[in-house]
Amino acid sequence: MTLVHLIAAARPNFMKVAPLYHELNRLDWCEPVIVHTGQHYDANMSDNFFDDLQLPSPDIHLGIGSGSHAEQTAGVMTAYEKIIVEQKPDWIIVVGDVNPTMAVTLCAKKLLVSVAHLEAGLRSGDRSMPEELNRLVTDSIADVLWTPSPDADENLIKEGVAVSKISNVGNIMIDSYELLREKIQAESVPAKYDLQSGKYGVVTLHRPSNVDNRDTLTLLADYLREVSREIPLVFSLHPRTRKNLETYDLFERLDGAPGMQITDPLSYIQFMGLVRESKFLITDSGGVQEETSYLGIPCVTLRDTTERPITISLGTNKLAAPDQLMDCISDISQGKWSKGQRPPLWDGHTAQRVAEDLYRRTTNVA
Ligand code: UD1
Ligand code: UDP
Repeated sequence: MTLVHLIAAARPNFMKVAPLYHELNRLDWCEPVIVHTGQHYDANMSDNFFDDLQLPSPDIHLGIGSGSHAEQTAGVMTAYEKIIVEQKPDWIIVVGDVNPTMAVTLCAKKLLVSVAHLEAGLRSGDRSMPEELNRLVTDSIADVLWTPSPDADENLIKEGVAVSKISNVGNIMIDSYELLREKIQAESVPAKYDLQSGKYGVVTLHRPSNVDNRDTLTLLADYLREVSREIPLVFSLHPRTRKNLETYDLFERLDGAPGMQITDPLSYIQFMGLVRESKFLITDSGGVQEETSYLGIPCVTLRDTTERPITISLGTNKLAAPDQLMDCISDISQGKWSKGQRPPLWDGHTAQRVAEDLYRRTTNVA
């Protein structure tokens, strides 16, 4: 039996791990084990996702929690090293680009354990993003690189990664959406917020570059107030963003804006239920850029760069500065926005392709 550790740390990891867990769990040659590092720990950032995604409680919980980058990285390495030595997994699968993605990879490779990275090869080119450093380190030492799109393959090849390590498997996030599509549709979420289908926007923001600096966050809050005067907005508030809005005395100002509803982080089913019927998204999330492209919903990404350029070239995503927000919303209202198309292999079958590739590499079957 091949022992496979699946590493889950933070909110965006759970939708990447879930479809793969379900797929590996039904196969007789491997035993998937979920390892939660504990980076996200509030029920609305973790447990609710396990429930929605029909995942069992993690087999192993490292309980690392919040901290500085070095604290999180060192905490995961110190705790997980012992587990690797005890359990001797045949494969460790890391996903995405959070601190534990890199920490686990580094720790595992020093112990000569095979690591596969799901969602490999994405590059924003912006090394001031912690995630970009995590991606670069992880991809330079992982044994297998499962990519979501051809641009990711090209990035890896440019960096000198052997082609034999790379498999383009598509986008695993879409598997989670497809797994729960019927439940998401059945929930009729907009009505719970007194909203009509297609007549509201959804907001998520959590990047340090947008929410950690007082001036930037104040500016963004003011632009969002302006948008909410034109069209209702639901703002799903990430804990980092809530903390900073409160610290900078901006929370009441935003919460009191006409047309603005602020919510705690939503469970996956509730969030996607809102997203699928929305008119547009305003975000800086990685996953949301992908989900909106898949669903054909306009997405305004408040960033200078994206590691997911296919959401712009093929999908419905556009990068914007805060002062371009009102123009973007006006373009969306006038239908002047790309309708987009679904990127290749974003089809709900990525977990199956990953499992097949893992089997091939485990058994060395050509
Ligand atoms: C992390 C990831 C980021 C990812 C995001 C997804 C890194 C470097 N960052 O950013 O790539 O896009 O998750 O949401 O790995 N907090 C809580 N409750 C929780 C978790 C966090 O209150 O359950 C608060 C704490 O005050 C914490 C802060 O949020 O200090 C930031 O959390 P952290 O996990 O360090 O970074 P994120 O901004 O969530
Ligand atoms: N999400 C959710 N509820 C929310 C906000 C986000 O279920 O209130 C989901 C959504 O599927 C999104 C994913 O969480 O794609 C990604 O989370 P986040 O933006 O925190 O991380 P990133 O993708 O930027 O790393």
